[in-house]
Amino acid sequence: MNRVVVVTGASAGIGEAIAVELGRRGDSLVLAARTADALERVASQVGTRTQVVTADVTRRADVERIRDEAIRAFGHVDVWINNAGKGIVRPVLELTDDDLDEMIDVNVKSALYGMQAIAPHFMERGTGHIVNISSFLARVPVAPPRSAYSAAKAALNTLTANLRVDLQRTHPGIHVTVVMPGLVTTDFARHARGSVSATPAGPGSPMKPQTPGEVATIVADLLDRPVAEVYTNPASRALASHYFDDVERFEIESRGSG
Ligand SMILES: NC(=O)c1ccc[n+]([C@@H]2O[C@H](COP(=O)([O-])OP(=O)(O)OC[C@H]3O[C@@H](n4cnc5c(N)ncnc54)[C@H](OP(=O)(O)O)[C@@H]3O)[C@@H](O)[C@H]2O)c1
Repeated sequence: MNRVVVVTGASAGIGEAIAVELGRRGDSLVLAARTADALERVASQVGTRTQVVTADVTRRADVERIRDEAIRAFGHVDVWINNAGKGIVRPVLELTDDDLDEMIDVNVKSALYGMQAIAPHFMERGTGHIVNISSFLARVPVAPPRSAYSAAKAALNTLTANLRVDLQRTHPGIHVTVVMPGLVTTDFARHARGSVSATPAGPGSPMKPQTPGEVATIVADLLDRPVAEVYTNPASRALASHYFDDVERFEIESRGSG
């Protein structure tokens, strides 16, 4: 393909893997994150034309600058992937105002700024694809210490669904997708607010961790065949159905498998 794709949070983890996979498939890339040297390292692995933008996506002006620099470099944007995000390790009763604010800023407002920055460009062109990287925890809050993170991703799922329905009415050529990974082997757990170490899957967890490359392949595939939403982990759909079938039973069973 020869699309122009913006990826936020592209300096590491899933965003880095998405950039490398899309570059391998022939797309031109705009890579955004806060750490310039890490972005340059990722850009050097991408074989296609790449523009690096150092930006903090919790600031609306920075997100608008990503859009402006992308259009200046490539003339237009085909796909915008809101991937930057951050977790937390803190139970509900210990959450501070700052905890909640940061989770909303980095996981919800960042993507809202992205959607609002790029949607007018897509509407003008009548085509485009917005992809928001959420989490399985947005659907099934099975990890209580992720508390405000899961809540923020649930808000992101809702905003994504609402935007999709709005745009489908007036601009059917614009796609809006939410991606819900399960456990992925990045430094996400180590970067989480309040984290002291990485938190691996518990013993007996039905969800086998995925590599960032596996998630990137799924994201790259859905750019060719857009869908409303996707769980990247094969175990997630059945777990989500089981959860919504009977939340109380699910929670009792989860305690039992402790
Ligand atoms: N790993 C998992 O198990 C998992 C599971 C479900 C969903 N997810 C979601 O997948 C996405 C990527 O996570 P990951 O696992 O790749 O995490 P990661 O390895 O910690 O990478 C996070 C990326 O986001 C960037 N970022 C963080 N805050 C930012 C900010 N304010 N402005 C700009 N960039 C920012 C980081 O770059 P800089 O530090 O350079 O800014 C980095 O490139 C997140 O939305 C996460 O919630 C991850």
